[in-house]
Amino acid sequence: MNYLCCMLAKIDALIQEVKAYQARTSEDIDAFQQRFVHRKGELAQLFKGLPQVPVQERQAAGKQLNLLKQLVEEKAAQLQAAVDTSSTGKADDTEDITLPPMPHTLGSLHPLRLIQEKVVSSLVKIGFEVKEGPEIEDDYHNFSALNFPKDHPARDMQDTFFLDEKKEWLLRTHTSSTQVRAMASRKPPMRFVVPGRVFRNEAISARTHCMFHQVEGFYIDTDVSIADLKGTLHYLVQSLFGKESKLRLRPSFFPFTEPSVEVDMSCSLCDQKGCNVCKGSGWVEILGAGMIDPNVLKMGRINPEKYTGFAFGIGMERLAMLYYQINDLRLFTQNDVRFLRQFAASH
Ligand code: DAH
Repeated sequence: MNYLCCMLAKIDALIQEVKAYQARTSEDIDAFQQRFVHRKGELAQLFKGLPQVPVQERQAAGKQLNLLKQLVEEKAAQLQAAVDTSSTGKADDTEDITLPPMPHTLGSLHPLRLIQEKVVSSLVKIGFEVKEGPEIEDDYHNFSALNFPKDHPARDMQDTFFLDEKKEWLLRTHTSSTQVRAMASRKPPMRFVVPGRVFRNEAISARTHCMFHQVEGFYIDTDVSIADLKGTLHYLVQSLFGKESKLRLRPSFFPFTEPSVEVDMSCSLCDQKGCNVCKGSGWVEILGAGMIDPNVLKMGRINPEKYTGFAFGIGMERLAMLYYQINDLRLFTQNDVRFLRQFAASH
């Protein structure tokens, strides 16, 4: 048998095979290396057989064999690179089961969302229905129907983000606007709790922000009295902060309630010993409330001779600051994960 002819044929066949070789896993590459590159692989065998090739043809065979060797090396590198890039994420063939597991980081609800859910679910338990209203409001729902006189300072540019020249459209300054919407769509008795974002043109600091959250509550029925308001607020605050928490009602003024009150809670941070949050007084203001003004009921087509109602609006930021002992309002909107992560266990 002509050794040269056989060897050349074999090399040519191997060249074709190497060119066509495809590898999908690193095991395929190992198999390729074994077959061609290994000490006892095809290449080594052929080089070993080279001295037996007749001397005048040995040069041609050697040349082909070097070509094959070069091809094998190139192919091996190419295959390795392809598997390296495609195996990222393919756990089945490249997974190293000895590696420690990737930490599984869970997201968490925002503290404002957490406190809002606590307030809403407490009120739902005693019969309040959840309602939402639009953030873009008109003057009627935000002011006029709530008994704000035309020249009331709260309508001024300083507080309100107006959206048009005529000051007809605005970003709602409080969730009280939903009282008007509820009265337009329902007949008493009605009991609603309305969570939502509100906006005021204020400088951003540790204590004020131009966007904050309120939960509005209101109840309209026959014979609703201020005692019902007090009882509801006591229940709410004690279900959040515990039975020891106390409330204090101070006379105040809102155009849409008569009488109006501001409500303080015993400071949960210092147990009323006095701290910088309660400014040494032991009390912190948490909400505004009152008996719905008869004018507001009338505008909502509800007969004030027959029905009365109470309403309150709670600031969520203040409540969350007391509940979670947070001392800077800006933390709520900075989305610093080191801050947010602390609430992961609070669900
Ligand atoms: N809307 C008031 C505010 O944003 C809060 C408020 C006061 C709501 C009295 C009420 C209320 O429902 O009766 O400052």
